[in-house]
This record gives sequence, structure tokens and C-alpha cells, in this order.
Amino acid sequence: MHGDICDRELIDRLLAEHQPRAIVHFAAESHVDRSIHGPGDFIRTNVNGTFTLLEAARGHWMGLDAEAKAAFRFHHVSTDEVYGSLGPTDPAFSETKTYEPNSPYSASKAASDHLVRAWHHTYGLPVTTSNCSNNYGPYHFPEKLIPLMIANALAGKPLPVYGDGQQIRDWLYVTDHCSAIRAILQAGKPGEVYNVGGWNEKPNIEIVHTLCALLDELKPDAAGSYSRLITYVTDRPGHDRRYAIDARKIERELGWRPAETFETGIRKTVEWYLANQDWVAHVQSGAYRDWLDKNYAGRS
Ligand code: DAU
Repeated sequence: MHGDICDRELIDRLLAEHQPRAIVHFAAESHVDRSIHGPGDFIRTNVNGTFTLLEAARGHWMGLDAEAKAAFRFHHVSTDEVYGSLGPTDPAFSETKTYEPNSPYSASKAASDHLVRAWHHTYGLPVTTSNCSNNYGPYHFPEKLIPLMIANALAGKPLPVYGDGQQIRDWLYVTDHCSAIRAILQAGKPGEVYNVGGWNEKPNIEIVHTLCALLDELKPDAAGSYSRLITYVTDRPGHDRRYAIDARKIERELGWRPAETFETGIRKTVEWYLANQDWVAHVQSGAYRDWLDKNYAGRS
């Protein structure tokens, strides 16, 4: 069902129809650059949307019998960006790290995390929250670093690296994020927060070089290595320097660890994009081209 997360009537109707035993709340505006150009959408979807879903979930949960009520879960999918930015030698984010969101996107996610926490403490709604690092893999929308670089390289377009390219992200293959959420739904404790990450800290420029090397191997270009297309462009305003997740709690308490290494995951990802160029072409619609103009045309 494609619907608006702020549409309370629709959500109430869906909950009544489907009687879910759990809600996994993935719905969010998620791209930092878009939040810089248009923060209003992020407040509406991420803050008002989470509020609407929590209220609808609370109404549904209150109507359940005692057994179903105890088994019900509201799982909130959040991000490591709520914790702010790390210096080069700072310890990785643990679940008790203070919140220091720096972008309109991360501030809106931080606000939603606080609402979820409050609905547990005030109303007893059985919630869990996960704060995950950067995902990558199939069906990643080509506004984000990895799919954008693959799509641009295949089109012979510049590969726009923001600033000095030394910003560090902690990459996790998407199906590992899914298995972490399943583990939390099965055995996570209501009211608890779990940090999820891949133990894969890498500077952006290294990611871009890895993608170029894989494309050189899997789809060589007669014009030479794809790395010739790397172009340093004006940095993202307020760009967080480093994220790193301490994922020891979810390992210790729920026995979760990622199955993929970065090397296996990134190769699968490039192979998937090469085999699914129709999907990429389909999502690169008019609205997507407008976005590229808005985000990249003004950068020197
Ligand atoms: O950390 C988790 C977060 O990861 C999620 O909460 C966000 O929803 C998700 O978008 C992602 O945020 P990032 O800002 O880290 O992802 P993005 O793919 O936009 O950028 C990754 C890094 O690459 C970041 O340092 C900015 C840089 N970058 C990105 C783009 C799109 C470039 O250098 N050039 C680009 O064209």
C-alpha cells in the first residue's frame, strides 16, 4: 500500500484490517543533501509521521487482549547520525552516547527517536529502536554515494567526491541490517536501543576507488579506468567527518553479527547494479534529474 504516513485514517484502517503483531517503522525521508535543500519534508515525514504512527499503534495495541498486547512490538528504524560526528580517535558510538544531530535530516530522526522513547515510558507501548550505520546493496536509490558512483561511472559522468573525500562511514550490507532487525523483533527487550554496524570504517575516497576497480574488472571501459572520472567538488554544508558504530550490545545480548564482509558485499552490489540497469534507468525519472541539477549544478 502506498500511502502517507501522516494519514491517520488510512493507518487506522490498515491496522484494523491486517491486525499486525508488529510494526517495523522504516518510513522516512533519508537523504542528508535533500534535507539541506528542503528541511520541511523531513519534519513532516520523520517527526509528524512518527507521531501519527505511534498514536495509531497505541490505539491498536490498547485494543488487543493481554497475550497479544504483551507480544506486540513497535520497532523504530533509526540512524547513527543522531549521535553527531566523531574525531579520528574517538570511541565508536555506543547506545549511551549523547545525541548531537548536525543536519536537518539527523535532527528530524533524533526527534523521532525521542517520541518513540516517550511513548514507551509514558504509555507502556512495547517499542524497540535500532540506530544503524550506512547501508548499501541492491535497490539502493541512486542519490546515495555508492549507487550514484556506479550509475555515473557507467554513464561516463564525473564521480563527485565532496570536500577532501576523507570523511569516514561504517558500511553495512543491507541484508545484515534486515537480520539485525529480525533478531531485535524476536528477542529484543521493550524500551531498549540497539546500535547496528558493520565494523567497516572506510573513507569515502577509498569506497570510490574500490568501485572503480570492481567496474574496471567486471565492465572494462575502452576509454581507461573509471577512476579518471573522479572529481572533487564543493563539500556538503555541515558535513559530518566520521561515524563508527560500537555493535557489541546487539552481539552480546542477541547474538547478532554481520554475515558479509565489505569485500563480499561490495562485489555483490556492483554485480547487482550491472545486472539491473533497467531498474536504475527506471528510477532515474524526471524528478531524479531535477534533483541532480539542484544538488550538483551549484558545486564548483
Ligand atoms: O549513517 C547512516 C546514514 O547513512 C543514514 O541515516 C542516511 O539515511 C543515509 O543517507 C546515509 O547518510 P550519508 O550522508 O552518510 O550517506 P550518503 O550516501 O549521502 O553519503 C555518504 C558519504 O559520501 C558522505 O560522507 C557524503 C559523501 N558523498 C555523497 C554523495 C551523494 C560524496 O562525496 N558525493 C556524493 O555525491
